[in-house]
Amino acid sequence: MNSKTIRKICCIGAGYVGGPTMSVIADKCPDLEVRVVDINKSRIAAWNDNDLSNIPIFEPGLAQIVARTRGRNLFFSSEMEEAIANADMVFISVNTPTKTKGLGAGQASDLRWVEASARQVAEFARGHTIVVEKSTLPVRTAQAIKEILMSTKNVDQKNKSDSTFSVLSNPEFLAEGTAINDLEEPDRVLIGGEDSDAINDLVEIYSRWVPINKIICTNLWSSELSKLVANAFLAQRISSINSISAFCESSGADIQEVANAIGTDKRIGNQFLNAGPGFGGSCFKKDILNLVYLSGYFGLPEVADYWEQVVLMNTWQQDRIYRIVLQKLFGTVNGKNIAILGFSFKANTNDTRESPAIRISCDLLEEGASLAVYDPKVSIERIREDFDNYSFENQGKWKKANSIPDALKNADAVLIITNWAEFYGLDWDYLATLMRSPSWIFDTRSVVNRNEIKNTDLNLWKLGEGS
Ligand code: NAD
Ligand code: UDX
Repeated sequence: MNSKTIRKICCIGAGYVGGPTMSVIADKCPDLEVRVVDINKSRIAAWNDNDLSNIPIFEPGLAQIVARTRGRNLFFSSEMEEAIANADMVFISVNTPTKTKGLGAGQASDLRWVEASARQVAEFARGHTIVVEKSTLPVRTAQAIKEILMSTKNVDQKNKSDSTFSVLSNPEFLAEGTAINDLEEPDRVLIGGEDSDAINDLVEIYSRWVPINKIICTNLWSSELSKLVANAFLAQRISSINSISAFCESSGADIQEVANAIGTDKRIGNQFLNAGPGFGGSCFKKDILNLVYLSGYFGLPEVADYWEQVVLMNTWQQDRIYRIVLQKLFGTVNGKNIAILGFSFKANTNDTRESPAIRISCDLLEEGASLAVYDPKVSIERIREDFDNYSFENQGKWKKANSIPDALKNADAVLIITNWAEFYGLDWDYLATLMRSPSWIFDTRSVVNRNEIKNTDLNLWKLGEGS
């Protein structure tokens, strides 16, 4: 297939990846028309809200980009047919959560949204269309997408005789909270495919702002697998350092000092060595579980067991924190007031998917605690939905606090779960006066400095700090 000039792009899925990624492409390529479509009409309405503080995703720098591109060459709509029919290139950027039912439930990816997208493209596309897998997908999904696109059985043949497709894999490596920076200055862009003209077309788009030596081209399967493996390696590092945080607490070592000491070795590197309440986010757990499932599928049970341990260690870490809170508060939190600082899975995002705060809070609620949850970006509706979706017996109560002092008023303990910048350097002399004695700080992110509480009667437990 000959190379073609790409003028119009459509992205199916206006989520945490589709929204920011397409905003940056539109910003960097003013000559391209970029249409982001979604079946979720209220999400599209939010993307089109005149008040930019209402766009559905909070990411530093995103609102400014949307402000200068929306209506110029970036459009959000629910008009799937028109957007796909006019597009030279269609990105599939839909959700791929873990299956909850059927074969592979609890591990395999649920590909129903990807398949539905491929069928929409098969139905509406005109002429030659490059289809780009942006979602994180199991190895060899591109084959399934190709088969759906090439199959004519479900397709209205009117106007379709000239439809042809090339399928590329272009996984996204952005991390939430730093998405715009990650998109503008990526460590690499990965493109997998067999059709060199289609690959060149996608390279041509990225090369407007990404140095060519950072654009890696591989075969389709390597590209799909590399995404799962990158996330597995990153998550593995967190489980490794978290396992050592428990060791530090028992042995008298300090996790900050250990992380610093090992991180200076260039072969280890100093990134991703922050011990904490366990990794959250929509990707790590689901992608490792998918790797575990695929390892089993390919007859490699030892490989599956090895990677599954990364997830088990993560759950153990969250469970461990809840048990420590319980134990320090004399074995019961029933009727006790506990402030939860931070509900998003990491700072600088309003995303709570797989947030450690959910499991830890629900375990405390099951013990009858009264929680006051403060997070600068997460809405009360989001918190309610997360609690409603978690299977537990709520014996306690909770409210959303409007400020840190509001959360700490009459609290017996404060549990810091997310490292939002505003949690550093707090005036503990003042905050301690609001709390009930004896009062505890449980710091899972190492945001509190012991010096800051030296004039108070607060008890401080820090994750990974041996006594
Ligand atoms: P998301 O749930 O935020 O967004 C997906 C969107 O796709 C939703 O708004 C949904 O309504 C829409 N959608 C689903 N089916 C559709 C259809 N048939 N037609 C139109 N719209 C449809 O998900 P996300 O976080 O953006 O993740 C998308 C993919 O990117 C996943 O595979 C994920 O693993 C991967 N990924 C995510 C991140 C991240 O940080 N969130 C980073 C890298 C890769
Ligand atoms: C991750 C990958 O980093 C990104 O490349 C991929 O595209 C999507 O998944 P994300 O989940 O958005 O990104 O955030 P990330 O910064 O990786 O953090 C994931 C979780 O690990 C968070 O809960 C974070 O708090 C935790 N974490 C991270 C630690 O506990 N310690 C660390 O040192 C780093």
